[in-house]
Amino acid sequence: MSILVENLSKRFDTTQALRHVYLEIEKDSIVALVGGSGSGKSTLLRMIAGLDTPDEGSIWINEKNAAFLSVQERKIGFVSQNYALFPHMTVYDNIAFGLHVKKESVKQIEERVHYLLELIELENLIHHYPNQLSGGQRQRVALARAIAPDPKVLLLDEPFAALDMRMRKELRDWVRNLRKRSSVTIVLVTHDYKEALEMATEIVMLKEGRVEQLGQPEEFYNYFVSKKLL
Ligand SMILES: Nc1ncnc2c1ncn2[C@@H]1O[C@H](COP(=O)(O)OP(=O)(O)OP(=O)(O)O)[C@@H](O)[C@H]1O
Ligand SMILES: [Mg+2]
Repeated sequence: MSILVENLSKRFDTTQALRHVYLEIEKDSIVALVGGSGSGKSTLLRMIAGLDTPDEGSIWINEKNAAFLSVQERKIGFVSQNYALFPHMTVYDNIAFGLHVKKESVKQIEERVHYLLELIELENLIHHYPNQLSGGQRQRVALARAIAPDPKVLLLDEPFAALDMRMRKELRDWVRNLRKRSSVTIVLVTHDYKEALEMATEIVMLKEGRVEQLGQPEEFYNYFVSKKLL
């Protein structure tokens, strides 16, 4: 799905988190959202997910005004920065949640959840609850939960931050390849500029709630080098 963010502004008390953000996200692209801490990345992502409402401006998903779309109609998978899982549900039930909402059959759900558990290498913790998991394990469950219902838009807020190098590489490759298997538009927030260059088809840099720069990874390489970000 394509996403259009038009003139989006958001203020929290004295902080202007977003200032007239305009952004066109093409269908099936991978957009990396980068920028310093507090630049507005999570705020922008939460608004696209429909978890927060803008003060001004609008969001269009496949040319439909998102303000009038239900969370289900948005077909969005979201991994928040603190990868909040449902605390009273096991790993299995967390991942299966979106599939139940989609009213898939028990057999389909079982197959899908087991496939994802294998991918994130947590088959042995299937009956554990979130408070029995490490940070990296929780992050992996959050990612599996978001991708389980086959979303058309995947919003990922620093989804690999708590993972070790091997798992990070594996899930990064998997997410990147997702596009080849099904139609999905991905917006990925990352502090890792190398990750942005490797994964994204388009990079958007925010600064103080504004889009400071945007372009293709090739155009960003020299910029990152000159700012000593790589
Ligand atoms: N619920 C809130 N109440 C008050 N201020 C908020 C709230 N959410 C965000 N802010 C402020 O808005 C600004 C942007 O926050 P945001 O979380 O979008 O930044 P970010 O780019 O995701 O940063 P980080 O890289 O640290 O995650 C910050 O100054 C933050 O303190
Ligand atoms: Mg953030």
